[in-house]
Amino acid sequence: MGKDVEDLIRILTGQGDLKRPEWARAFASVPRELFVPDRAWVNPDYDAPSYSIDRHARPGEWRSAVYSDASIVTQVDDGAGDPASGRGWFTSSVSAPGVVVQSGELLAPAPGDRVLEVGTGSGWTACLLSRIVGEHGRVVSVEVDPGLAASAEARIEGLGVTNVQVLNLDALDFGSDDLFDRLHVTAGVSTIPWSLLSALRPGGTAVLPWCPSWGHGHKVALTRIGDEAVGRLSTSAGYMMLRSQRPEPGALGSFLHHEDEAARYFTEINPKAVGRPDDAPGWAAYGGGVVITALAPGIRYDLCEAADGSGEATLWLRETYPGSRERGSWATVEYVPDAREYEVTAYGERDLWDEVSGAWMHWNRLGRPERDRFGVTVSRAGRTVWLDGPEKVVAPATRGG
Ligand SMILES: C[S@@+](CC[C@H](N)C(=O)[O-])C[C@H]1O[C@@H](n2cnc3c(N)ncnc32)[C@H](O)[C@@H]1O
Repeated sequence: MGKDVEDLIRILTGQGDLKRPEWARAFASVPRELFVPDRAWVNPDYDAPSYSIDRHARPGEWRSAVYSDASIVTQVDDGAGDPASGRGWFTSSVSAPGVVVQSGELLAPAPGDRVLEVGTGSGWTACLLSRIVGEHGRVVSVEVDPGLAASAEARIEGLGVTNVQVLNLDALDFGSDDLFDRLHVTAGVSTIPWSLLSALRPGGTAVLPWCPSWGHGHKVALTRIGDEAVGRLSTSAGYMMLRSQRPEPGALGSFLHHEDEAARYFTEINPKAVGRPDDAPGWAAYGGGVVITALAPGIRYDLCEAADGSGEATLWLRETYPGSRERGSWATVEYVPDAREYEVTAYGERDLWDEVSGAWMHWNRLGRPERDRFGVTVSRAGRTVWLDGPEKVVAPATRGG
């Protein structure tokens, strides 16, 4: 094993991400460098700036990026832009090793398992899984982008890996008579698709990044039990979204419409406490966001601080459903330091601030539980969010995210 792989394994073990020896063996036997293009954009999975790499111009930097805990963006704007520029909508990457192993530990694949993966990308994670399930197991990996699927397939064949099958299709169109032991989803989902979970055998495990519109995404591990899949939220998950579940693009201002018809009123609830809960024990542990997602689905927020040093801020809320830019509901809430009331402007069929602040109050009434006390149950009917156990439902089934 190369020293750079050894160092990476040591870092991931030290972070507490890597626990099982089979993952260390898989990392050592599937060199990440074979999956990273010569030019790309590096997004460290910690608080460090992003940067571009060029293997020919700066080979040392390229190699240390490959063996660092960083996601490496390999495609922007579905292939229309230059990934090494860092500009555009990030649409594919070689996932960060820490993120991969966190999911892998929750997924816990075993030798002989059949694994369904969504989002082949470079093919790296499919090959890691293939090593763990071994010659008697199999990985079916689904990739929506034809170019990415073809190059991953060629790479996998070139490596002599025979137990991985790449399918070029939209995961939401995947259908199979075979049932899988594990489902590994590597693209964010705002609505957790039952069509994919139903490909799991009873007792099988799915790990997916649930990234509803509100705040952080959450890594979720679900177990198929009868006609449902049930499981808890764990760590934060920041992922590129499944193609058909991407939020509406566009600048904030473009969501403002019908301003003349908007309602104006005052609220006593501090919008910063809702949009940036400084008093929550760590942003990542914020359970308020989960309750808001559950009770007020399909709402996106941005908290914009004034640049003039006044301490003022605006909380923007907007619906994220397709087409919502032209027609959807929106609201703004103005934060002014030391104020007792904050001005709300709200337009649309939904009063977004009323919904969001009501959900936040409900979280307070529940005793401000942290994220890891919440879980979800998914069935054909939609998903419910629960607290502490599936019987303690926070919000009824919904298809929205
Ligand atoms: C984060 S990347 C995958 C990373 C990959 N597992 C790796 O480490 O190389 C997410 C991938 O999901 C793919 N994807 C997005 N929407 C999809 C869909 N509806 N069906 C299948 N693949 C999809 C994207 O094209 C992208 O390649």
